[in-house]
Amino acid sequence: MDTKRTAIVTGATGAIGKAIARQMADFGYNVSIFVRNEMKAKNTVDEIITTTGNENVEYVIVDLSRKDAIRQAVEGWDGPLHVLINNAAVTPRRREETPEGIEMQFATNVLGYFWMMQYFEPYLKMGAPSRIVNVASYWAGDLDIGDLECRNSHYNNDRIYRQSKQADRMLTVAFAGRMKKDGIAVNAAHPGDVNSILSNNLGYGGHESPDSGADTPVWLASSDDFEGITGKYFEHRDETNCRFGRDKGLVEKLFEICESY
Ligand SMILES: NC(=O)c1ccc[n+]([C@@H]2O[C@H](COP(=O)([O-])OP(=O)(O)OC[C@H]3O[C@@H](n4cnc5c(N)ncnc54)[C@H](OP(=O)(O)O)[C@@H]3O)[C@@H](O)[C@H]2O)c1
Repeated sequence: MDTKRTAIVTGATGAIGKAIARQMADFGYNVSIFVRNEMKAKNTVDEIITTTGNENVEYVIVDLSRKDAIRQAVEGWDGPLHVLINNAAVTPRRREETPEGIEMQFATNVLGYFWMMQYFEPYLKMGAPSRIVNVASYWAGDLDIGDLECRNSHYNNDRIYRQSKQADRMLTVAFAGRMKKDGIAVNAAHPGDVNSILSNNLGYGGHESPDSGADTPVWLASSDDFEGITGKYFEHRDETNCRFGRDKGLVEKLFEICESY
């Protein structure tokens, strides 16, 4: 990696994440994809290098549902980070748990985002002004703060997914408040409806292309229009009112719960 601006994209072996990583490489960023499957990782890196001509693309193998794995990946990191795009997510049809016993959607879609922001903060500070983009969704709501892991109710992957995407938007507000003083902007985006494993598990296809899904996250990560904008939520490049960030008490409660894991 040379000394240009560096971006991490999680879940870049998936539909939207791969398009995000390719577009960031096309813009000339050094891109590090954080993914869990080595074979897919190699193929994705090769594909991005071939299509963009940018040789500064690499992968890091990490299970983003596991705190120790993320911590280990961060320990191997060196130098400033300018952009972190949290994108990896899952929607298993049946309730699954990590080896630590944490419900899988909460672990990956919520805690994974939380730990990446928390552990990369020193490197984002080094790279400031820097940016975090949390890939969230308009498909969000019904967060049950007393049962985030769905232990006391019937598991429905769509409901737990919507809860997790509400949590991503709330954590965006929580981290934006904490990181502003260090020159780190934190915003959230709905990418668009794209056909993927994630959307198929929820029972729908998707009418937008992966490139179109990547457009708003990449724009938030790279455009000069965003200097000083933080804690906001965007759909199709439009800043969109987000009711989930308004209840500061609930936002802080969620942050505290995530911190306790
Ligand atoms: N698709 C849509 O219509 C839509 C709409 C709104 C929001 N979104 C959001 O867009 C983002 C990307 O979704 P997508 O549709 O592109 O999904 P996708 O194609 O299913 O990709 C998901 C990615 O996450 C990775 N991942 C899952 N669990 C992981 C773990 N424990 N550790 C490391 N990587 C892991 C997957 O890796 P593997 O390849 O190894 O499985 C894959 O790269 C998600 O945050 C989703 O909520 C999507």
